[in-house]
Amino acid sequence: MTISPNASIVILTGAGISAESGLATFRDQGGLWADHDIADVATPEGFARNPDLVCDFYNMRRGEAKQAQPNAAHYALAKLEKTWPGEVLLVTQNVDSLHERAGSKKIIHMHGELNSALCFECGSRQIWNGDLNHGEVCQNCSRPGLRPDIVWFGEMPYRMEEIGAALAQASLFISIGTSGTVYPAAGFVTEAEMNDARTVEINLESTRNPLFQESHEGKAATAVPTYVQALLTSAGF
Ligand code: OAD
Repeated sequence: MTISPNASIVILTGAGISAESGLATFRDQGGLWADHDIADVATPEGFARNPDLVCDFYNMRRGEAKQAQPNAAHYALAKLEKTWPGEVLLVTQNVDSLHERAGSKKIIHMHGELNSALCFECGSRQIWNGDLNHGEVCQNCSRPGLRPDIVWFGEMPYRMEEIGAALAQASLFISIGTSGTVYPAAGFVTEAEMNDARTVEINLESTRNPLFQESHEGKAATAVPTYVQALLTSAGF
């Protein structure tokens, strides 16, 4: 199906797009949730119980993400944004910065970012590149209230209104490297489909969600550039 070059596109990415950059996914064999309990490291209650454990977990992930390099899938999405005349919004569940480092500009980190700290006293967010230890002082309110700026289970993801508005306008929704198990992101395909968007999934293995009209199986670093090139070619680029 040909998509008009003026059409709006919303792309959702998950951990699978960074897998070939060496970053672990969550639910694959040997994924992060195989060795770590979600309740311990990804909930506000876990942080209240043992903040050092939680800070260590994200310090480890921040260190790994810093070493990782964007792969061909990240670069292909940056090229799509640059080339496509219509709106392209990239919504990622990932907390690494590989999309930005590949050149993507219009991006929403709905689950937060490793390179950011959030003050639970005053709510301010600040750039944070090194280790973040419990008790670190907020640059805004000077209280020792900083925590990893990660949206934990039970918390509201960032910028949901903007994402909803973009999904309402989108003619094409592309989901890449996500198991589609965590809401609200898992519900985006429903919203897109209700608004008559073409719905496409690119994943190592199909999630078998019948709401996807197209499903491309394969590793992201190969399958995403192939899909993006075909999309650009079909639109005359
Ligand atoms: P998951 O680990 O749940 O899913 C990763 C998906 O990527 C799976 O469907 C894999 O088959 C696929 N995959 C693995 N390697 C791939 C590759 N090389 N190319 C393409 N696909 C590949 O990760 P997410 O769906 O991102 O939230 O998880 C969603 C949220 O759950 C995360 O943001 C995180 C987690 O709990 C929080 O921490 C709040």
